[in-house]
Order: sequence, then C-alpha cells, then structure tokens
Amino acid sequence: MRLRKLSYAGGAEITGVDLGKDLPQVVLDDIRSAWLEHLVLVFPEQEFTIEQHIRFSRQFGELEEHPLKNLQGTNYPEIFEITNEPVDGKPSETGEIGRQWHSDGAYTTRPPTGSLLHCRALPDVGGNTWFANMYMAYETLSPKLQELLAGLEVVNDVNLYYRRGNGSRSQGKVEEDSKANPPVIQPMVRTHPETGRKALFVSEAVGVRIHGMTEEESAPLLQFLFRHSTRPEFTYRHYWRRFDLVFWDNRCLQHLAPKDFDFSQVRHMCRTTLTGTPCGRVEAALG
Ligand code: OGA
Ligand code: MN
Repeated sequence: MRLRKLSYAGGAEITGVDLGKDLPQVVLDDIRSAWLEHLVLVFPEQEFTIEQHIRFSRQFGELEEHPLKNLQGTNYPEIFEITNEPVDGKPSETGEIGRQWHSDGAYTTRPPTGSLLHCRALPDVGGNTWFANMYMAYETLSPKLQELLAGLEVVNDVNLYYRRGNGSRSQGKVEEDSKANPPVIQPMVRTHPETGRKALFVSEAVGVRIHGMTEEESAPLLQFLFRHSTRPEFTYRHYWRRFDLVFWDNRCLQHLAPKDFDFSQVRHMCRTTLTGTPCGRVEAALG
C-alpha cells in the first residue's frame, strides 16, 4: 500500500490495494489511521460491484439508510445513488444534490461518521467534489471567537436547502421531509470522538440561525463562518476518475458538489454511509 498526500488541507491517495478483496485487519487498521490523519482517502481503480462496495464499507462501521425517505435505495437499502440520469422514466431526485457546502446529516440528530463514494460514470470534464477541513477552520479562528462559539448552537433545517429552490423536490415531498426531519439544534463546535480535535460544525446548506437569536441577528456571524470555513487554503478538490472510491470523515469536513459539468452527460455515483453517534437535539422538543 502506498500513500501520497493530495493537498495541504487534506486528502491522500492510496494505491496498491484491491478493496474488492478480503483485507487483513492490519491493512484495515492502516486505512483507518490514514483516514483519521488525512480526512479524505482516494482509492483509484476500484472496479468493484455494489456488494463489494457494501462489504468493504461495513468493515468501518454500521451502514445507514438515507434519512430522507425518497432518497433511500430500493435494491440495496445501504446504497445512496447520486445520478443525473432519469430513474424509472422520471427526473432523478438526486441530480442536484450537494450544491452548497454541507456536512452530511447535519439536519439530523445522528450525523453520519463518514461516507464511501464510488464513481460509476463521469462526464468528460468536471463533476468534482470539493472538501473543506473543519479542524483548520476552527483552529484558525481567534481564541476569543473560539471561546464564544463554544457556547453557541446552530439550528439546522434540511428544508432550508429545498425551500431556497435547490434540489429537485416537489412541494409535497418537501412538506413530507419537514415532518420527518424537523429542525435540529447542533453545537457549532464539535470534538471529534476519535482524534479529540475540535472542528467547526456549520453547514451553509441547512444552517438557519444561531439558537436563541433571530435570523437577522445570526446572519453576520453565520455568514462569516460559512465563508471562513471554506477558504481555499482549507480545501481539497477531487477530480474524479471512473472507479475512484473516496472515503471521507464527515465529522471534520464539509463538502460540495459544484455543477461544473455538461449536464447532458451522465454522472453516476454510489455511496455507503457510516452511521454516526447521537449529536444535537430536535428543536421542537424544547417547546
Ligand atoms: C454526498 C454529496 C457529493 C458528490 O454524497 O454526500 O454531497 O460529489 N455528493 O456527488
Ligand atoms: Mn453530501
């Protein structure tokens, strides 16, 4: 197994390993520690089946189904498919996913630990995925602001994203999602359970306001944090090759899927998602 760093902010390419095969525990342990250190691992040329993808992923934790009902896979509940191709003759629900900076499941009380995204089809250029290192985002804030953020929480609402006209979701489905996924309150700084490092936890796609403040009061600080957290020097931008498997740590990253390609060409990705630990609480529960 060989490792090559991909950027200052994170990302490492790992070659010389076939993830479709049974791997000894020492190799899996090395992968896990590289993942914790580099945040995003890229494994090129992994031309494996869905079953192999699921099998490899399971070795890093339990797999979850997508929290939004209509995005759950039908054939394989553990697989979340991202495609711009019509599905059963209907426009894809996932064609426009991830167009704003976010951390997966920040609108739930159990955000995933990480994800393993496999590229099955790719346009001739573009279709990138962009990652931002939230440890760096936190560590580069002044101590006074770090102190202030330690006492603050943010309200995340999945439907902010769709209500703003992102994604391709009908109004009925948005309402359904609202009921199933009411706004949640999350700490603005979280401590990574495995590394013990602090990471900024804000997501522009879903962050509505600071808990206890009005949207107007919250906006200046939130806007600053959204901008600051994704400064170019904190990022790694992944240029996909077909059959890359990208394994990222959702607890210390945000990511973005820019619409940087010819939409008449197919982009098709399959994701497995590692179930996280409880974090945050539902807003309504507080009354
Ligand atoms: C995701 C996502 C990234 C992409 O899988 O969570 O946001 O590049 N998509 O499709
Ligand atoms: Mn995502």
